[in-house]
Amino acid sequence: MNVIIVGFGFIGKETVRALYKKMDIIKRLDEEFRIIGISDSKGYIYNEKGLNLEKLINIERLSDYMAYNESGSAEELIEKRDVDLMVEATPTNIKNGEPGLTFIRKALKRGIHVVTSNKGPLVVAFKELTTLAKMNNCQLLYEGTVAGALPVFSLVRKCLQGDKIRRIMGILNGTTNYILSKMYFEGTSFELALKEAQERGITERDPSYDVDGIDAACKIVILANALMNKDIRFEDVKRTGIRRITQEAVSLAKKANYAIKLIGVIDKRIEVAPKLVPINHPLCVHGTLNAIHIESDLAGRITLIGYGAGKETVSAIMNDIFTILKDLRKS
Ligand SMILES: NC(=O)c1ccc[n+]([C@@H]2O[C@H](COP(=O)([O-])OP(=O)(O)OC[C@H]3O[C@@H](n4cnc5c(N)ncnc54)[C@H](OP(=O)(O)O)[C@@H]3O)[C@@H](O)[C@H]2O)c1
Repeated sequence: MNVIIVGFGFIGKETVRALYKKMDIIKRLDEEFRIIGISDSKGYIYNEKGLNLEKLINIERLSDYMAYNESGSAEELIEKRDVDLMVEATPTNIKNGEPGLTFIRKALKRGIHVVTSNKGPLVVAFKELTTLAKMNNCQLLYEGTVAGALPVFSLVRKCLQGDKIRRIMGILNGTTNYILSKMYFEGTSFELALKEAQERGITERDPSYDVDGIDAACKIVILANALMNKDIRFEDVKRTGIRRITQEAVSLAKKANYAIKLIGVIDKRIEVAPKLVPINHPLCVHGTLNAIHIESDLAGRITLIGYGAGKETVSAIMNDIFTILKDLRKS
């Protein structure tokens, strides 16, 4: 399998590291597995015989690798002859999905399997992209887009095949959970907790993306469309953020054995809003943890808890890659 990676930032680099680390297992599934190209916003590297991963894991910028094509674009890489799989990890843009949307469209149209951690294209064009994948007989997998390492799509698709999903609820944004946990445990104000989150570098560049529930709403769109047969857009999510949560409200809730959490819900409602969560409820996790609670007709209630961002996200990307490799062996 010939693989290209589009985006050599945090996720792109961590993916290369994980592939290098697990190469012996991968080679047992596909002796011909190789990364033939990687691009960033300014250019790409390409070698049809396979790039040197040992060199790649030791460089900071793609341009530090020999033969960096400074004028090349990701689109050119996608259009190379023998690409079988693209890992797409460019920045999220929920306004128009770009640049990832164009890359994913182009890849799927050429029958290239796609693994992405980028919410933007899926929020903007979920139906179009999943239809395109089907029409071109290839897979579009996106486990890393929602709640990082939590295998929610794989769990529902592989382990709840006979279930009807009735409700999905979750803490889908680690930054707001960090802020609310600080307010709960340390009695800090919203403003101070936000400032600390920014100092720790865990907020988006524009913190409203986190605190106004925009990021969580994007994840609700993907979950609803992928797992609950909906056809919704970002505007369909009723959204309230956490800016107005005061220290007094958090303390009052605490005295009554509740914590205030930013919860995304899909049932009859499709919303993201602060909710009172009983302190002994499985969703009541703290710090930067994420949690997803699924209610289905046969299994009842299942909760996944874990890291929603950071290097753990690569577990989801690797699982998607392994899924494609194994499915190809079966066919
Ligand atoms: N970081 C996390 O913990 C995490 C977790 C889950 C999901 N995600 C999602 O995964 C994606 C990648 O995240 P990240 O943290 O790796 O972002 P990042 O560090 O900002 O890296 C983004 C990469 O995309 C490249 N890029 C930008 N425009 C491009 C273009 N037109 N063509 C080719 N490459 C382009 C950038 O190139 P330059 O290097 O030249 O700027 C950079 O290498 C995002 O959509 C993010 O929301 C991230």
